[in-house]
Amino acid sequence: MRFQAGYLAASVVLPSLAAALPSSVENRDDVPAHIRGKRSFYSRDGIKRTVFEHEATGAKMDFVTNSGICETTPGVNQYSGYLSVGSDENMWFWFFEARNNASTAPLATFLNGGPGCSSMIGLFQENGPCHFVNGSSTPSLNPYSWNEYANMLYIDQPIGTGFSYGKDPVTSTVTAAPYVWTFLQAFFAQFPQYESRDFGLFTESYGGHYGPEFASYFESQNAAIANGTTKGENISLVALGINNGWYDPIIQYKAYIDFSYNNTYSPLISASQHTSYTNTYTSSCLPALKECSSTTGSNSACENAESTCYNDIEGPISNSGDFDVYDIREPSNDPYPPATYVSYLQSSDVMTAIGAQSNYSECPSAPYNKFSSTGDDSRSFLATLSTVVQSGIQVLLWAGDADWICNWFGGLAVANAVDFDGSAAFAAKEAVNYTVDGVAGGTFKTEGNLSWLRVFGAGHEVSYYQPEVALQVFKQTMQKKVIFST
Ligand SMILES: *[C@@H]1O[C@H](CO)[C@@H](O)[C@H](O)[C@H]1NC(C)=O
Ligand SMILES: *[C@@H]1O[C@H](CO)[C@@H](O)[C@H](O)[C@H]1NC(C)=O
Ligand SMILES: *[C@@H]1O[C@H](CO)[C@@H](O)[C@H](O)[C@H]1NC(C)=O
Ligand SMILES: *[C@@H]1O[C@H](CO)[C@@H](O)[C@H](O)[C@H]1NC(C)=O
Ligand SMILES: *[C@@H]1O[C@H](CO)[C@@H](O)[C@H](O)[C@H]1NC(C)=O
Ligand SMILES: *[C@@H]1O[C@H](CO)[C@@H](O)[C@H](O)[C@H]1NC(C)=O
Ligand SMILES: *[C@@H]1O[C@H](CO)[C@@H](O)[C@H](O)[C@H]1NC(C)=O
Ligand SMILES: *[C@@H]1O[C@H](CO)[C@@H](O)[C@H](O)[C@H]1NC(C)=O
Repeated sequence: MRFQAGYLAASVVLPSLAAALPSSVENRDDVPAHIRGKRSFYSRDGIKRTVFEHEATGAKMDFVTNSGICETTPGVNQYSGYLSVGSDENMWFWFFEARNNASTAPLATFLNGGPGCSSMIGLFQENGPCHFVNGSSTPSLNPYSWNEYANMLYIDQPIGTGFSYGKDPVTSTVTAAPYVWTFLQAFFAQFPQYESRDFGLFTESYGGHYGPEFASYFESQNAAIANGTTKGENISLVALGINNGWYDPIIQYKAYIDFSYNNTYSPLISASQHTSYTNTYTSSCLPALKECSSTTGSNSACENAESTCYNDIEGPISNSGDFDVYDIREPSNDPYPPATYVSYLQSSDVMTAIGAQSNYSECPSAPYNKFSSTGDDSRSFLATLSTVVQSGIQVLLWAGDADWICNWFGGLAVANAVDFDGSAAFAAKEAVNYTVDGVAGGTFKTEGNLSWLRVFGAGHEVSYYQPEVALQVFKQTMQKKVIFST
């Protein structure tokens, strides 16, 4: 799977904060060790900033409170800035309190994919507090924002992505996970009121890799904290939601061929092309993927599988007609969702207000290339996904039905292949209409704690196209329920 969004200019790192000195320091000896830290304040460009140095992880947070950008609902607090994990490793975050019942509402994180794409995509084009309706140059409030229900945290990871900047040691999904865990540890220390809240992880696209691995890593860190081998705060993970994910290449390269021939919109290839691509899949792509074999394959075997399957299947089909790989209903120069949020985020006024220190880059190639060098794309996270489903948390796998790059044929086949107590019953079920206030928004099925939803009339970024459906399934999943019609 190759992310094909137009790459923007490489990020420009602005002058560092080194010269700015804290104006006051507060020691917090009265709190438990894992959330202890020093808090100080300083001003930069006339904007007051908070610095929080977390003792247990050595991480430092440096952020702006209530910038007035994006979330303008009175009384709803927001925080934006950086977590510095090591020296010159700065991970951008933007946190919005829930619009309702913030003091009791759960906490959720949304991560976009790539690898190497910014979660500002999700924030501004999908499920965040504001959006740019019809490509307007200024944002307006999004009535279907996920912070209607939960406290929402958007993180630009790995470093180098979006507003994040500095050294990037992350070369794979597995090496990305500890950075996000460390981020959450420092976040909980700075904002201890969220520590024990129900926590949900929602991801998209390459999030079919990130979601299972990060959830599984958080669970194993919880176990290590419980048996005393690691110090930290338990992450009360209750839900994992992944839309249009890239989970398993063996299933999903095959799905490119079937979906292109047999999707519910219009065929992109002929019957004879379907046969010929299927033969190619069997003779070249599949054997290469088997050499890679998820987590144990060598980097070179996995890189080879990626280029073989791309060159033989994904590349030729995606270039064979004038369609948008993220929404086959549109031509390849599809202007939706509008990209106007990018120039907004690159304006110096907005950057100053939110505390950004690096020019915004939506999907820079440097983090992506590091993942490519280990063949990460060709590794399957289906087995990891199965362990997360088996752990008993709610898992929602969903997909917009017009997306090609991580299409719903592949998503459904992955859901049917998840190994858990209810596998056979789940796979045998037919999906039925999923309604929102009586209106069909897709088809779904559930078994145990696993939900599948195909969303009608939606491309890759589902929440942009069907915000009401998206908010409803988000709420239900965060409430630890399988999804249900209303
Ligand atoms: C806020 O909490 C109250 C009391 O628990 C509940 O009745 C209400 O539905 C909640 N509002 C939202 C939007 O979740
Ligand atoms: C957006 O554009 C469409 C098509 O031009 C129009 O029907 C719709 O009313 C516009 N929406 C808003 C909120 O301006
Ligand atoms: C503690 O838990 C971790 C994570 O499950 C595990 O890897 C480790 O072996 C456990 N150690 C002990 C001493 O039980
Ligand atoms: C830690 O979080 C998990 C949810 O992932 C929960 O089941 C468990 O009870 C929590 N443990 C503690 C000690 O709070
Ligand atoms: C086409 O899709 C339908 C269901 O939508 C399925 O029954 C049929 O087997 C598919 N055919 C091919 C060639 O994939
Ligand atoms: C960020 O980069 C964009 C594109 O190169 C440029 O138009 C914009 O002026 C830059 N912003 C700042 C504050 O340097
Ligand atoms: C489903 O999740 C709930 C917690 O939300 C848990 O109590 C229950 O055991 C899970 N069910 C299965 C079948 O894993
Ligand atoms: C499901 O929804 C579609 C679209 O609204 C509708 O055409 C179809 O009749 C519905 N099916 C059932 C069984 O209600």
